[in-house]
Amino acid sequence: MVFSMRDSKPTRLIVGVTGATGTIFGVRLLQMLHGSGVETHLVMSKWGQRTLVHETQYSVKDVQDMAKETYSIGDQGAAISSGSFTTLGMVIAPCTMGTLAAIAHGLGTNLIHRAADVILKERRKLVLVVRESPLNEIHIENMLKLSRMGVVILPPVPAFYNHPQNLEDLINHTAMRILDQFDIHLDVMNRWDGVMLSEGKDHFAEEEPAPKPRES
Ligand SMILES: Cc1cc2nc3c(=O)[nH]c(=O)nc-3n(C[C@H](O)[C@H](O)[C@H](O)COP(=O)(O)O)c2cc1C
Repeated sequence: MVFSMRDSKPTRLIVGVTGATGTIFGVRLLQMLHGSGVETHLVMSKWGQRTLVHETQYSVKDVQDMAKETYSIGDQGAAISSGSFTTLGMVIAPCTMGTLAAIAHGLGTNLIHRAADVILKERRKLVLVVRESPLNEIHIENMLKLSRMGVVILPPVPAFYNHPQNLEDLINHTAMRILDQFDIHLDVMNRWDGVMLSEGKDHFAEEEPAPKPRES
């Protein structure tokens, strides 16, 4: 019998969208990956869908059409609920505190929780774009627990060092940094290059002057 190796490296990425504010981050990931060669496998929670429609101009169908495959949140028999379906990993963007808690406690009660649980058992990459503010102790403990297991906790905190001009720039930068986690490097925004603008540098002392030796 002859076995042939299909893909030595999987090119599928599972994208979960849950009901935290910032559903645009999940949308932007799908848009950036469209045509990139990475297959996107999308599952949205009920509140992910509700929040999407509330805060973006996209319909659920629009977003589903951006993905290669879409699964229903209740479909526990979906391909992504098995470890034998090989993937690069999973990103949940945005990720609610409820979904974070369900994953931290191994509840496989919906397809997002189950797919994340599978990623953990297979030791694949899981990136959680957690969003809540302020955070309580339960949230922080759940994040710490998962972080210790290798999960990447990546809140969508904006950066200002690359001089974003608008909201799109901020969204694109976060989406780019999320994909970096999967070694998918799409340069949609400037990256930090170590060059600081010099204007105003005279306001800062180059170095603290060394203290003078005390005279006895
Ligand atoms: C407009 C809106 C914004 C919300 N934002 C957040 C949020 O930022 N973080 C969060 O943890 N929950 C947020 N929630 C609450 C979650 O949607 C709710 O807890 C839901 O049950 C989570 O379910 P899911 O994780 O299956 O999507 C928000 C709800 C609404 C309606």
